[in-house]
Amino acid sequence: MEQYIINTKNRKSKINKEIYGHFSEHLGRCIYEGLYVGEDSPIPNVNGMRTDVVEALKAMKLPVLRWPGGCFADEYHWKDGIGEKSTRKRMINTHWGGVVEDNSFGTHEFMELCRQVGCEPYITGNVGSGTVQEMQEWVEYMTFDGVSPMAELRKANGQEEPWHLKYFGVGNENWGCGGNMRPEYYADVYRRYQTYVRNFGDNKIFKVACGPTDRDYNWTEVFMKNAGRYCHGISLHYYTSSTGNLQVKGSATNFTPEEWYSTLKYTYFMEEFIEKHTAIMRKYDPEGKVGLIVDEWGTWFQVEPGTNPGFLYQQNTLRDAAVAAVNLNIFNKHSDSVVMANIAQLINVLQSVILTDGADMILTPTYHIFEMFKSHQDATLVDSFIPTKQIGLKEDMTVPNISESVSVSEDGTYTITMANLSLEEDFDIDAQFLGERLASAQGRVLTGAMDAHNTFEAPQTIQPASLNVAVTDTGLQFKLPAKSVVVITAKA
Ligand code: AHR
Repeated sequence: MEQYIINTKNRKSKINKEIYGHFSEHLGRCIYEGLYVGEDSPIPNVNGMRTDVVEALKAMKLPVLRWPGGCFADEYHWKDGIGEKSTRKRMINTHWGGVVEDNSFGTHEFMELCRQVGCEPYITGNVGSGTVQEMQEWVEYMTFDGVSPMAELRKANGQEEPWHLKYFGVGNENWGCGGNMRPEYYADVYRRYQTYVRNFGDNKIFKVACGPTDRDYNWTEVFMKNAGRYCHGISLHYYTSSTGNLQVKGSATNFTPEEWYSTLKYTYFMEEFIEKHTAIMRKYDPEGKVGLIVDEWGTWFQVEPGTNPGFLYQQNTLRDAAVAAVNLNIFNKHSDSVVMANIAQLINVLQSVILTDGADMILTPTYHIFEMFKSHQDATLVDSFIPTKQIGLKEDMTVPNISESVSVSEDGTYTITMANLSLEEDFDIDAQFLGERLASAQGRVLTGAMDAHNTFEAPQTIQPASLNVAVTDTGLQFKLPAKSVVVITAKA
């Protein structure tokens, strides 16, 4: 029996629901086909948004959605995407696949999507190729409730009331596709652009600065020193591969047990990056006012054979589910510093929760993890500890056998999420709930072959099943099967 200690009297940080956020870019079939099919589509839709997808996202409790990019954001000119659709500019999406972007999905459509799903919008502005005026006017267009040229334009386009907009990113990856800037330069540019990202009326904007990629600690240091006091959040991007090198990607579905462990090993670097970047941030912001926003994370594998390489369409297996569970447990455990996270990307791109093919839609193993973990949203992290051992097939590619986190929600429900990363070994867990006597518990488990995935022909190959959980005098007992992710909800 593995002894698992949950100290219910030691309650820690709030797990912001935004940690369970997602990212949607004008890339491949994420927006067009995935989310938006247009009002005239034979695929059932409301105002152009796919009904099946919206319903699935509501069931998963999607809290916040980032848009329009990604690299696309620093080439996006928002005025191209408003007004009468037939007159909107048609252009080439130069970053992603060289396809025609007809701008039929713009600001109004994104806000309508968020309304239907019931999530917060998180918009990223164009610093790389846009002007200060353009950014200033976009914020005014969306949020100003008074007499102004942009408010009038919004009304003329059919939106009388301003929208509520909290999260606004000032550029994306400005060290790369967003302008190839040095941190010294971006810090100054950020200070200038953010000046004009204004709060109108009751609308208070949470400004997100472009932060580092994985281990670029110098970016964080220079930015925080020179501009940290002008932002509320700083982003971190880190993608997981099976090789540790995004230039040499492995297959999403055809992989070895060694690659199972190497992928998990690389995903665990997230914890180190969060801790080290946070330590630098706290040097300049000892009160911890600036939050870390992991607004791009997830697996990046080879595209599915025969698909456009610029569309980044990949399948999703139990390995992706394990990656998602490890990262979400890491974010929960670091919710004193991580205030938002957005997996890349929502539909049909990279580590998606949904894949579509024409009118068909399937839920991926990653969808099931977000759905299983949803009761952590806005709950309070509870102190928990399980002794772990390093497992793997190669000496330098080992990972802890178990990942876990525990929270308690306002109504007193405990949520325990665990992943067993071993491909072979089951573990019997004896969870000791210090300071609380439990009355009831329910469990669910996601498991299967390591490469199990859902297809349009077999859409339910992998989905959650119920898990036997015994309530004992001191807590809970249950079996954690090899290569599985488990959620248990329990009440006193
Ligand atoms: O998510 C795909 C791309 O990865 C994004 O556009 C960019 O920000 C990152 O490099």
